[in-house]
Amino acid sequence: MCGIVGYFGERNGMPIVLQGLKRLEYRGYDSAGLVLLKENTLEIIKTKGKVSELIALANGREAKIVVGHTRWSTHGEPNYINAHPHTSMDNSIAIVHNGIIENHAELRKELQEKYNFTFRSQTDSEVIAQLIQFFYKGDFEEAFRKMLTKIEGAFGIVALHKDHKQILCARKGSPLVLGVNNGEFFIASDPSPFLEYTKEVIYLNEKQMASIEETGYKIKDFNGFNIEMEIETIPFGIESIQKQGFEHFMLKEIYEQAETIQNCFRGKIRHIENISIKKENIKRIIFVSCGTSYYASLVGKYILEKSSHIPVVVEYASEFRYRHPMLYPTDLVIAVSQSGETADTLEAIRLAKKLSCSVAGIVNVTGSSIAKECGQGIYVHAGPEIGVASTKAFTSQIIAMNLLNVYLNKDPYYRAELIEELEQLPEKVKAFFKTQDVKAIAEKYKDSKYFMFMGRDINYPVAMEGALKLKEISYIPAEGYPAGEMKHGPIALIDENTPTVFLVTKDTVYTKVISNMEEVKSRKGKIICICNEMTEEIERLSDDIILIPKVRWECTPILNVLPLQLFAYHIANANGREIDQPRNLAKAVSVE
Ligand code: F6R
Repeated sequence: MCGIVGYFGERNGMPIVLQGLKRLEYRGYDSAGLVLLKENTLEIIKTKGKVSELIALANGREAKIVVGHTRWSTHGEPNYINAHPHTSMDNSIAIVHNGIIENHAELRKELQEKYNFTFRSQTDSEVIAQLIQFFYKGDFEEAFRKMLTKIEGAFGIVALHKDHKQILCARKGSPLVLGVNNGEFFIASDPSPFLEYTKEVIYLNEKQMASIEETGYKIKDFNGFNIEMEIETIPFGIESIQKQGFEHFMLKEIYEQAETIQNCFRGKIRHIENISIKKENIKRIIFVSCGTSYYASLVGKYILEKSSHIPVVVEYASEFRYRHPMLYPTDLVIAVSQSGETADTLEAIRLAKKLSCSVAGIVNVTGSSIAKECGQGIYVHAGPEIGVASTKAFTSQIIAMNLLNVYLNKDPYYRAELIEELEQLPEKVKAFFKTQDVKAIAEKYKDSKYFMFMGRDINYPVAMEGALKLKEISYIPAEGYPAGEMKHGPIALIDENTPTVFLVTKDTVYTKVISNMEEVKSRKGKIICICNEMTEEIERLSDDIILIPKVRWECTPILNVLPLQLFAYHIANANGREIDQPRNLAKAVSVE
């Protein structure tokens, strides 16, 4: 995780890098730092605080070559010493790193014991700077490449040497993108830091490095051989990474969903045959994913099994990759990931490839590691998701599941009906936002100490997503459960202080869910009901009711999750939480 941004050009790079770090804070915000290269000196500024503190510290400084970092700690607590950049023992080299160097302990030991190197931090990253110094004999790039042959693990690295007007960077497992603009260059974990300067980018591939100098840039493999890379143009603008008047990115992203779900199906829904997933000879689909993407995958299972009669298995990527799964060449393993960088999901896909399965991705971030590794799939095109809690990516992933359903379903009448419904969804999403006041209900329950979320069938994963949203941004314990399981244990938690959010749609399990509501009510539990039709039972049993527009069964999760996202948001906000940057979390979990 961690965010990296570097500038090389003719203007003062400090505001660009500082602003860029602010935009990358979603990747980690345990500490921040930067290095300025000026006339054969490296100046380091860092803080154990967030980027806003770094901005205050760096006030008035100028440089044309600057590299910055915002950290999500893995090795070593978040303090000043462990903040990046890290320097070599002789202070000639500075590096920033995103990822984990798995063999750092042995490398550190060897440098210390055999060559008397001294280390300052507890990080795995410091060894990178020390190794470059160890190998340096006047050729920075050669020393950098030698360092790359020694380190194992995942990395996006950017390095400076005080005597070379050059930025060197390398990627393996952690993203790096180069921005180019008439003689000035940007390097960053994603393009957001430099969107107002250029949309022309090169996404570095696995095991590629780049060298940026006054004469231009070169992309090479780790052996130093030049590689011709295509320049791509980013399809979104600066407005997609600004709050545009909303108090938080999360709120903006929630309200964007009418548009983002449309962006997901636009261009595909009426040209479904263009979906680039080979479907011949596929007998089973296995989704691998984590967190919110895992819940979207579960929704996909309900949709695909019921509507297209395809067996679907959903696996936590972190479990899948370590448990010797039974896979067949007729399996299609699909990675579902917003960031496209989640380490466990990426490794699960690599494992599936090794075992001769077809793989595909349902991914938001274009050019991301998972997208590249899969080579086929569906981009959900939700645009940059900056709030750490995933919202618009979830609804777009469910649209993608529906597109996959249309793609695989053999019944033309069914397909036509579903397509029509999908096309009407944006208007229904807008109608929900216009009519329902979730804020007032959320504030009523803001002091509750524990919440349950219940749903059945396709609404069961949505209940789990509602609980996840609430706990990650409000820090209030919450559990999502299949409502039918309640009496096998969780019902013991119900009393007059426990609110339960029920997802009740008028479908095949409606009466079953009403019975579960009765069970809660008879134990004096409070009930917040999210439903798509007001009925006598619902009115009688519920303390609060949120009405969502009616939609087909396959699309109910999209409407049902909207009030849950707002509910979590307003409870967290009423409790003064840091909504876009909740504690201990980061947006792209590119470490195990
Ligand atoms: C929850 C959340 C996480 C992510 C999970 C997977 O709001 O953001 O649970 O869903 O880390 O991330 P991606 O989808 O990027 O693979």
